[in-house]
Amino acid sequence: MLSRAQVHAEPGMGAHAAFAAEMRACLAARPRRISPKWFYDSRGSQLFDAICELPEYYPTRTEFGILTRHAGEMAALMGPRAEVVEFGAGSLRKVRLLLDAMEAPARYLPIDISGDHLAQSAIELQRTYPGLDVQPVVADYTQRLLLPAPLPGAGKRIGFFPGSTIGNFTPEEALHFFVLAGQLLRGGALLLGADLVKDPAVLHAAYNDAQGVTAEFNLNLLARANRELGTGFELSKFWHSAFYNAPASRIEMHLVSRERQRVEWRGERFEFDEGEAIHTENSYKFTVEGLHAMALDAGFRPGPVWTDDAQLFSVHWLHAPA
Ligand code: AVI
Repeated sequence: MLSRAQVHAEPGMGAHAAFAAEMRACLAARPRRISPKWFYDSRGSQLFDAICELPEYYPTRTEFGILTRHAGEMAALMGPRAEVVEFGAGSLRKVRLLLDAMEAPARYLPIDISGDHLAQSAIELQRTYPGLDVQPVVADYTQRLLLPAPLPGAGKRIGFFPGSTIGNFTPEEALHFFVLAGQLLRGGALLLGADLVKDPAVLHAAYNDAQGVTAEFNLNLLARANRELGTGFELSKFWHSAFYNAPASRIEMHLVSRERQRVEWRGERFEFDEGEAIHTENSYKFTVEGLHAMALDAGFRPGPVWTDDAQLFSVHWLHAPA
């Protein structure tokens, strides 16, 4: 049953104030950078869903294929009455593949910072699995949080972190995530999706799609700031830049000023030279060995790794610390 009282684990500073503070810090700094988490207002989430359907954006369908093919093996590793903790609660399509293969899943705990999106997804999931205990947790999973105690007689606690969202963290943030996840999943495991290092042409196409959806997704960050903070960015004066930084193994996304311009906001003036950019996202690409090294640093023990035939994407079973 869907529990009515959602668990609010971490109230903290309101999202509006936090966005304003980060935007102010971004504009005042050189070089300028802002966290990719601000992409995801409702328009940004819609655009991201559209990206996942693009012919060039291979990660979503490739990971879906891996999960479809190997859900049985994954479920066998989970064992009976396992509970699934999902970090971020996307469309919930992927977790259904696991739940369908699992033996009597005990509980599903999706954690997401956006309460509305989470509640909607949880209600939809509950409809399909009326017997499953679904407990949405409204929280920022990049911060320490408490989960409800395991149910009596429950099996392992399995974390699920698909989509290579780990790649949007800095290496320090990724390690921090592993440490926090290890504390939540003690004695269980983490099932993690990670995009792999590959031909830069494939990466370039995935982040520079022909329809311009990724460009709109990137520019929506400025549109969102205009809507919510009154920043007054002129969107036509910025272009979407995405390129593969090979030494750092990451796609970088930037919003580049087309001309010399000034942005005035809350009584301050921020100058942009032509070509000056706001760095909006890193999307790290991993090798299996590199991912394992990071997991080992946080006390996880690597288990099976599943990939597609073209070695585009990987799904990892990582045993959590005891
Ligand atoms: C959510 N995240 C894993 C996506 C990625 O590929 O890094 C976000 C994205 N940015 C541009 N396209 C998709």
